[in-house]
Amino acid sequence: GREPVPGGEAPTNLEAIRTLTNRCRECPIGDLATQSVPGEGPQRARLMFVGEQPGDQEDLQGRPFVGPAGQLLSRALTELGFSRDAVYVTNAVKHFKFELRGKRRIHKTPAQQEAAACLHWLESEIDLVQPEGIVALGATAARQLMGAAVSVTRLRGQWLERADGRRVLITLHPSALLRMDPADKEAAYAAWLDDLRKAGPLFE
Ligand code: URA
Repeated sequence: GREPVPGGEAPTNLEAIRTLTNRCRECPIGDLATQSVPGEGPQRARLMFVGEQPGDQEDLQGRPFVGPAGQLLSRALTELGFSRDAVYVTNAVKHFKFELRGKRRIHKTPAQQEAAACLHWLESEIDLVQPEGIVALGATAARQLMGAAVSVTRLRGQWLERADGRRVLITLHPSALLRMDPADKEAAYAAWLDDLRKAGPLFE
């Protein structure tokens, strides 16, 4: 069984996660964010995608993966013939952590302690959705899902198994592709599609 939620009740449905994460102050990130960004998708999705944390656009809209990284993810799923509507998309951390540079809000990687504090929300989503498989987008998601650091470079394209028996497909975060040298982008994108294709049987 899961650890009791620190300082509060465990959510009994997905809608409750928005309200509960909005007022969550188990780490300091929530104080600066506009709102929390819970996952989105069917209650009974066979496949769950987990990113790192909301970005600028996600923070403003309250929806996961709607900015540039999300657009790349949507494009990849479309190219593979998979429907994004069939999957549940969420993040390891539910609030946007950033640093102000002038008027721009620059993404800051959440500290391990912050991700750890947020983990029970992700585990609640997993409990409620009961996905058959989970895709970890990047190292933060992989670490939270597996409970230990995962070398994404070494293990990408592989299904790992969690202690609870659930399978986790390791791959890169779309932001990593966006940051790449233009000369490397095309090949890296093709390799990413090859990773994602391994989740193909779980797309409805
Ligand atoms: N990056 C993430 O990890 N998640 C989002 O929702 C958007 C960008």
